[in-house]
Amino acid sequence: MYTTKRLRCERAVKEDLAGILAIEHDPYNSLYTFTGDMEEHCREIEDPDIFFLAIREKEGGALIGYLIVDIDRESQRLEFRRMALSRRCEGYGREVLDGALRMAFKQWGANKVWLEAYPDNAVGCHLYESMGFHKDGVLRQHHKAERGFLDQVQYSMLKDEYRDEYLVKYRR
Ligand SMILES: CC(C)(COP(=O)(O)OP(=O)(O)OC[C@H]1O[C@@H](n2cnc3c(N)ncnc32)[C@H](O)[C@@H]1OP(=O)(O)O)[C@@H](O)C(=O)NCCC(=O)NCCS
Repeated sequence: MYTTKRLRCERAVKEDLAGILAIEHDPYNSLYTFTGDMEEHCREIEDPDIFFLAIREKEGGALIGYLIVDIDRESQRLEFRRMALSRRCEGYGREVLDGALRMAFKQWGANKVWLEAYPDNAVGCHLYESMGFHKDGVLRQHHKAERGFLDQVQYSMLKDEYRDEYLVKYRR
């Protein structure tokens, strides 16, 4: 679907799912993302309202993560629903999201992109805020996980903000 300087982000196929599940269920990643199973992900890769992207390094082709994008066509709203990487804090997350924002606003017809993060996800929250995502609010004790009831922060970016702020001020 799109490439970045170092990555290829393409629609996942069934053969990718074992690798994706291993990344998703990695103990660090599963602290901060919901986890699915083979059956759920098989349904998602066939769902016309979902882009399920496998993220690979261009050089060598190693699978290093995935991004699930949920499309609300009526409201032209896209959710970056789930993302996890096996190689973190090397700038890949920023690269994936930069490409996904470009596709969202320039190709996929989005008016708004949104996502949620747990407030203790320091890396994720720093990344979204440093990209200029607007912090819309906190859903208090919204999700029950093994470690308790967790707040969820909602972030969003509008089409105008992408053009006037992200591309001008935040994009690196
Ligand atoms: C969230 C995630 C996708 C981000 O991708 P990534 O490749 O690790 O992110 P990047 O390397 O592009 O950016 C990370 C930023 O966090 C910063 N960072 C690293 N450790 C940090 C910490 N402890 N506190 C705050 N910021 C931190 C990095 O310096 C970098 O910011 P900078 O570019 O301003 O220097 C990835 O870390 C991941 O898979 N996390 C686990 C699953 C997850 O959280 N998914 C998202 C759920 S909302």
